[in-house]
Amino acid sequence: SFLSNMARPTVYVTRDIGPEATDLLKNHCDVTIWAHSEPVSRADLISNVQGKDALFCLLTEKIDKEVLNRAGSQLKVVATMSVGFDHLDLNELKARNVRIGYTPDVLTPATAELTIALLLATSRRLLEASEEARTGGWKAWSPFWLCGPSLNGATVGVVGFGRIGQEVAKRLNGFGIQKLLYTNQSGKDNILGGHRVPLDELLSASDFVISTCALTPETKEMFNDETFKKMKSNAVFINTSRGGVVDQDALIRALKNGTIWGAGLDVTTPEPLPLDSELFKLKNCVVLPHIGSASIETRNAMAVLTARNIVSALKGETMPSELLI
Ligand code: DGY
Repeated sequence: SFLSNMARPTVYVTRDIGPEATDLLKNHCDVTIWAHSEPVSRADLISNVQGKDALFCLLTEKIDKEVLNRAGSQLKVVATMSVGFDHLDLNELKARNVRIGYTPDVLTPATAELTIALLLATSRRLLEASEEARTGGWKAWSPFWLCGPSLNGATVGVVGFGRIGQEVAKRLNGFGIQKLLYTNQSGKDNILGGHRVPLDELLSASDFVISTCALTPETKEMFNDETFKKMKSNAVFINTSRGGVVDQDALIRALKNGTIWGAGLDVTTPEPLPLDSELFKLKNCVVLPHIGSASIETRNAMAVLTARNIVSALKGETMPSELLI
């Protein structure tokens, strides 16, 4: 009826999020969607968010003071279809009592899976090898051609031993690693048979260094000239967290100078990585376009969870995944 329509809350959605999540929102709200494959422009975001009760956003949108001011004081919830929330200004959200939704857990297996895939693609040089095979570089089986370091017998260091880091460690179990080291915030030692060590010790002892930590002011550019120098020259560096944890120019230097052996990056600064980036020219670097969580099932689960977060918040109920700060 007209009256019940009047009472329906409004939500702005910044991308095509698939039918299941869209229908879920439509059952409860009036939905406006930026239904294009490219991200919404800043100007369109700012004009569309005005007067909305909820915002469904992605990590491609920076949700800051300006966006929140434009949205207005009726805004009740911002839910991001991501576990990462470095694109949200938490202080500004908190100051306005806007509840925050995010998507932990549902993407953990897919992201751990991709981390292993990227690690093996980097260490066993899969992209380089495939390129050689199809461009005539494959002359004959050759003893030392396209060799790389093995996980078998290796020491692996995981920086940021949270949900994703721990799932990576479980998957590494089948690869015969010798030792698992980690740094974490919880302070717990001996998780999954690993050793909690100071960062310096992890860096100097690990054959593989895997970054699965959140990007925060504390972790920003923690991988820099100084920390790369502490790594072994045979070290493989894998990053599936955020590009911002790496000083990218320092990484390029480390890869060029042989300070470390190679790197596999699912995340960069900026994204997309410009085509003229040095990283694309380096044979010892594998770059992927931020596909950690990109399993079919996972992406839909993330969209649905984000929609559920919004619906619950609008009803004033417990959200399935509220970020409490
Ligand atoms: C996240 O969720 O933060 C990832 O970067 C994308 O799934």
